[in-house]
Amino acid sequence: KIIPVILSGGVGSRLWPLSREHFPKQCLPLTDAQFSLLQQTANRTNDLDVSSPIIVCNEDHRFLIAQQLQEIGVKGASIILEPKGRNTAPAIALAALEAKYKEHEDTLLLVLPADHVIRDIKAFETAIEKATELAKSASLVTFGIQPTRPETGYGYIRSGENYTVAEFVEKPNLVTAEQYLASGDFLWNSGMFLFSAQVYLEELATHRNDISQAVSQAYAQRNADMDFVRVDEKLFSACPSESIDYAVMELTKKAKVVPYVGDWSDIGAWDALYDYTEKDKDQNVLLGDVMSEGSSNCLIRSESRLVAAVGVQDLVVVETADAVLVMDKNNAQDVKKIVKRIQSEG
Ligand code: GDD
Ligand code: MG
Repeated sequence: KIIPVILSGGVGSRLWPLSREHFPKQCLPLTDAQFSLLQQTANRTNDLDVSSPIIVCNEDHRFLIAQQLQEIGVKGASIILEPKGRNTAPAIALAALEAKYKEHEDTLLLVLPADHVIRDIKAFETAIEKATELAKSASLVTFGIQPTRPETGYGYIRSGENYTVAEFVEKPNLVTAEQYLASGDFLWNSGMFLFSAQVYLEELATHRNDISQAVSQAYAQRNADMDFVRVDEKLFSACPSESIDYAVMELTKKAKVVPYVGDWSDIGAWDALYDYTEKDKDQNVLLGDVMSEGSSNCLIRSESRLVAAVGVQDLVVVETADAVLVMDKNNAQDVKKIVKRIQSEG
């Protein structure tokens, strides 16, 4: 059976002030009143015929995540704790080692970021079926999405015949992304993967032996109790920080891409949440106790007080008990800068 691996390491600083270091975005019910993004991801694996998931997350979020899984009745999950985030290449390597330890070498992993929303489960299932076939013959499969804008935060894949990857380019600059989009030959990398634990570890060792060694040592010195698997803090902290995209996918010859044609969104920033959510007749997304008069194209969210917006356009307003964000929707990436300043200026 396939083991789902849920990556839940990010803090989602572009979704401040709702997303906080101690309550990251994947644990928030951002797109659904009832379930957090993490719970939606876990629920999605429940609908597929797969094993209990492996969750890889930061040590600080362990109780929050364990509780959220319990709430939706996920049983038998392994929760691997990272003392510090070292990005996705090491996180997935930990999951691969755990999968090999729990099951067997050629166990297939379905890697899922905790912060994606997928509504078309049927299309997802179809893509997984094809990907499983390819992964069984030692390919590292990624799911490709039809691009709709020259997004520079994504990976781009030029696909060849028979699902082969002719080129994988992580986070190109804007000019390049525009060319890729115009050419019609590229897909976005969804950030979801399917491969055998063993093949991933081999490819990681081939292309980034430093990461492979550091993760193996940290995992070998782990400390596991009933609830959590803790890797050695010193050894894991010494691991270089790199994403799977740069460390493996750009370099491997074993990459394959299966198109996923259903609806998909990476809820990375407020504008993405706006795009994803259904709007009212004025193209507003109003959440909580919010009133609008003559405002349009806004996302306004209130947590604790009435928020009224009069005659404004293209704004994001997010009110919480201790912080209020007011932002031009076109500057959604810059929230990060505020979070950095809060961290350094205190
Ligand atoms: N456990 C753990 N540890 N998880 C992590 C860590 C870590 O150190 N770093 C990131 N993650 C999780 C994030 O929480 C997220 O769910 C996922 O891994 C991807 O990380 P991002 O930081 O969001 O990556 P990205 O958005 O810049 O790029 C990736 O996703 C794009 C699509 O959303 C790449 O795979 C791109 O190629 C892809 O297009
Ligand atoms: Mg992302």
